[in-house]
Amino acid sequence: MNVLDKITALRVALHHHNHKYYVENAPEISDFEFDKMMRELMDLEAEHPEYADENSPTMRVGSDRTSEFKSVRHRYPMLSLSNTYSMEELGDFVDRIENEQGQTEFVCELKFDGTAISLTYENGRLVRAVTRGDGESGDDVTANVRTIGSVPLTLTGDYPSEFEIRGEIFMPYASFDRLNMEREAAGEQLFANPRNAAAGTLKQQQSSVVAKRGLDCTLYQIASRELSITSHWETLMKARSWGFKISEHAKICRTKEEIESFIGYWDTARKELPFPTDGIVIKVNDFAKQRQLGFTAKSPRWAVAYKFKAEQALTRLLSVDFQVGRTGAITPVANLEPVLLAGTVVKRATLHNAEQIELMDIRLGDMVYVEKGGEIIPKITEVELSERNSESKPFEYITECPECGTTLVRYEGEAKHYCPNQGGCRPQILGRIVHFIRRKALDIDGLGGETVELLYDSGLVKNVADLYDLRATDLSVLPRLGEKSADNIIGSIASSREVPFARVLFGLGIRFVGETTAKYLAQHFKSMDALMQATKEELMESDEVGDKIADSIIEYLTDEENIAIIERLRRAGLRFEEEAKELHSECLVGKNVVISGKFIDHTRDELKELIELNGGKNQSGVSSNTDFIVAGENMGPAKLQKATKLGVTILSESEFIEMIGATNRDGSAPAEPISVEVSNSGEGEAIQGSLF
Ligand code: IVH
Repeated sequence: MNVLDKITALRVALHHHNHKYYVENAPEISDFEFDKMMRELMDLEAEHPEYADENSPTMRVGSDRTSEFKSVRHRYPMLSLSNTYSMEELGDFVDRIENEQGQTEFVCELKFDGTAISLTYENGRLVRAVTRGDGESGDDVTANVRTIGSVPLTLTGDYPSEFEIRGEIFMPYASFDRLNMEREAAGEQLFANPRNAAAGTLKQQQSSVVAKRGLDCTLYQIASRELSITSHWETLMKARSWGFKISEHAKICRTKEEIESFIGYWDTARKELPFPTDGIVIKVNDFAKQRQLGFTAKSPRWAVAYKFKAEQALTRLLSVDFQVGRTGAITPVANLEPVLLAGTVVKRATLHNAEQIELMDIRLGDMVYVEKGGEIIPKITEVELSERNSESKPFEYITECPECGTTLVRYEGEAKHYCPNQGGCRPQILGRIVHFIRRKALDIDGLGGETVELLYDSGLVKNVADLYDLRATDLSVLPRLGEKSADNIIGSIASSREVPFARVLFGLGIRFVGETTAKYLAQHFKSMDALMQATKEELMESDEVGDKIADSIIEYLTDEENIAIIERLRRAGLRFEEEAKELHSECLVGKNVVISGKFIDHTRDELKELIELNGGKNQSGVSSNTDFIVAGENMGPAKLQKATKLGVTILSESEFIEMIGATNRDGSAPAEPISVEVSNSGEGEAIQGSLF
């Protein structure tokens, strides 16, 4: 057997076993044998790069390269479904359809709680995976989707030569729990629910990270001109035969009663499923009928989603704790009599702020309803007044910080109370250090919340600048910390000196200055010195900075203690300046440019960078000194109007690229100029039943 035949045989076998494992849940060989074959294929591919294939099973591990997502226009818009929570409305839906169409078959399916995806296959090979986006165009996340085991990279059977198939990418509970456990251990922010985790993972810039997160994918809709199928049910069966994972819980129902009993069954049974669902989707089965029923602007008239109500439990409010966050924000947390809710015992619930408590008139000892919304911690939704003790008194909110005793303050427009004692309040100090070392900030590995507490309590680290005075010998005296971990931490602190200015700025933890704002500030001011000298008005010229943020920055940067810390960090060698970039050309020197809309070959940030790299200046809004606008799709109508009024030139993405003489990211020459589409009428060709 020659090498190519060998490679091909291994690929076919691995695709088969992958399908058995991820789609059918019926593996035929052991993990050991699978891994052995995979290694063999990897070795052969490494020796013979000429036979590389982006759909090889070896591609499932993803890559460490960071990628940005191209915006891709959907061939048919990705619509959503109309929702109902009531059986009565569902009955009306069935009646309306049967009035128009006579006796009708419905397919009832689980509504998977993840994020929608559209996959394109050409000649049996996955060529593109695009998120829903705004329904008109989404992000090209193909590299990430290739790593999902249940997505077939190559198909089997009588598939059409080109088609699009849509479904849901979701995160099973087991993957979700594991992910959040890992994040907690690393001191990272937790995902609120599996849906956010799935959507967040799909937008990861490194596909190798996606590969490890355990996503799954189920499909429920096909679009192809070549199919001669006449019903939704048949497409599901066909798609399954080509290798797609199709839910085994779909059912044909012929009466309202059958639909109701399907819903009733799953309202309970879904709690045992290993993945999240939030309802049942009911679809007209026959494509001819679907076509006649058609669409409204937003959703098909032949389908509806029945959503399950969030589960509630009634329990007693025992006491209220007050947590102090890194910024001094106070969050009241309810301690409850333990109660079973959606499979877990709930003992605590968030109360958000004083206003919420007042609005609901929640009192100690009350019986309250708790609900699991999209958040990690359940919330109190209502008080059961009929069970209230006649002697109960309105809740008195605290006036002093529970940690340091300082009188709390309220800022205008903020619902929360704050402890203003930033320099002396323990949870705030610890919170700031933990924030500073986060991956998205200074990325100091090996230090979790607990170690930070140990360092603080032992007097070694009282603020973030103290981190840079640490020596390995200081650390090895801490309990539970070996010599090797100590060396790693010191190494990681040292490498944090290379972290770019924007992340250092974010790491300082200035109130309201999140990751994006920090990036804009760094881009706009270029250095800490410039930022420190900026007036409020100047601060507000930076993107994303309004009144509130500007005040907060000034308050932070005029505080003596903060200034001292910044100076120490500067002496420790942290970056307080944007790195100077070498100009590609000077063709835009003196030009003010506005970027507006969505683009095909570049992200907005890439275009902004290109403007700077060619000597130009980015402006956020059109004004009389704007030289030209680079407009993508859906440029804001206000901007367009202003530009027309001021007579500012509008360039398309490709015209702009041509102007600066650059090429596309993939190295190809710039595309034909695209026409600038301004309106967003949503009048794409809608998917019709007959096309499935
Ligand atoms: S059919 C025209 N079937 O729910 C839209 N959608 O609210 C056809 N979803 O965007 C969608 N499970 O992301 C359909 N079995 C299922 C579904 C499902 C989950 C999601 C999907 C869609 C959203 C609509």
